[in-house]
Amino acid sequence: TQAPVKVAVTGAAGQIGYSLLFRIASGELLGPDTPVQLHLLEITPALKALEGVVMELDDCAFPLLSKVVIGDDATKVFDGVNLAMLVGARPRTAGMERGDLLSANGAIFTAQGKALNDVAADDVKILVTGNPANTNALIAMSNAPDIPAERFNALTRLDHNRAISQLAARLGVPVTEIKKMTIWGNHSATQYPDLFNAEVNGANAAEAVNDQGWIENDFIPTVAKRGAAIIAARGSSSAASAANATIGHMHDWVLGTPEGDWVSMSVPSDGSYGVPEGLISSFPCVVKDGKYEIVQGLEINDFSRAKIDASVAELADEKQAVTELGLI
Ligand code: NAI
Repeated sequence: TQAPVKVAVTGAAGQIGYSLLFRIASGELLGPDTPVQLHLLEITPALKALEGVVMELDDCAFPLLSKVVIGDDATKVFDGVNLAMLVGARPRTAGMERGDLLSANGAIFTAQGKALNDVAADDVKILVTGNPANTNALIAMSNAPDIPAERFNALTRLDHNRAISQLAARLGVPVTEIKKMTIWGNHSATQYPDLFNAEVNGANAAEAVNDQGWIENDFIPTVAKRGAAIIAARGSSSAASAANATIGHMHDWVLGTPEGDWVSMSVPSDGSYGVPEGLISSFPCVVKDGKYEIVQGLEINDFSRAKIDASVAELADEKQAVTELGLI
């Protein structure tokens, strides 16, 4: 059998971690033939809770889970990891300014970027879920000069899945009939879910909807503000669906995207679609043999152009702010 793949998860004692770890250990990330070793990072006060989670992992007796390593020191926990899911982050609390939020997270993602740079495996792939995800990924990437930049991604797969689900519900079709959904830009309220390049049963999705008012006033805000709606309903932020998206992104990055479809991934821009090089922005991507490519040649109409530009401007703004804070 195969040697275990070492998978790091940060914020492992948190809400998302509680859903994520069990699915990784059960084989949903890498399939039924690949053993995994979990490397779990937490802050010191959460280690006790993390020990409890590890007790539950033990109690599942997962056949594919070969070992669990836990700790509060990134340079130890990230040692030799092949995949890193950076979930733990500092949430915005009452009275916190954006600059405070960016600095608090900057401290986390500069340190974790450096640690990954020093000790991760040569083939490491890094996915940032912790918010502000795109900019946190940019900070980690900028602090890991020896890791190729394209190995740093941020999560917009949850937004992608939300867009598929909303569109399928509107058209009364199963989600499996929706293909080629794209989220452009930032994982934030400015993100742009694009129906003009999406397909329903092979037909153009925007034409199938045939209602620009619904697209602008219903679909886009519903997808973009879904996180807030979940908090309002559940009393805490989306966790199982965020874990599901984190698994989906990493699964497809390692194992490939299906023929005839693509997924949304926030990746370092190469200048495609006018997104400035270096920003970590969401694009339609296909993956083959563990390498992703941004899908080229899509038509961007004026409506889409304005939406993409607005979200990318927000990313540029966040980049400017973390540059001024000396984080990148
Ligand atoms: P949570 O607060 O339940 O858990 C976060 C965990 O991270 C805590 O256990 C905390 O101790 C830990 N942590 C904090 N700093 C750390 C550090 N330096 N190293 C290691 N661990 C650290 O939060 P939850 O619900 O699990 O969400 C985690 C993050 O994911 C949040 O930033 C949230 O905003 C984000 N998120 C992103 C989504 C996306 O689509 N990109 C969707 C949903 C959540």
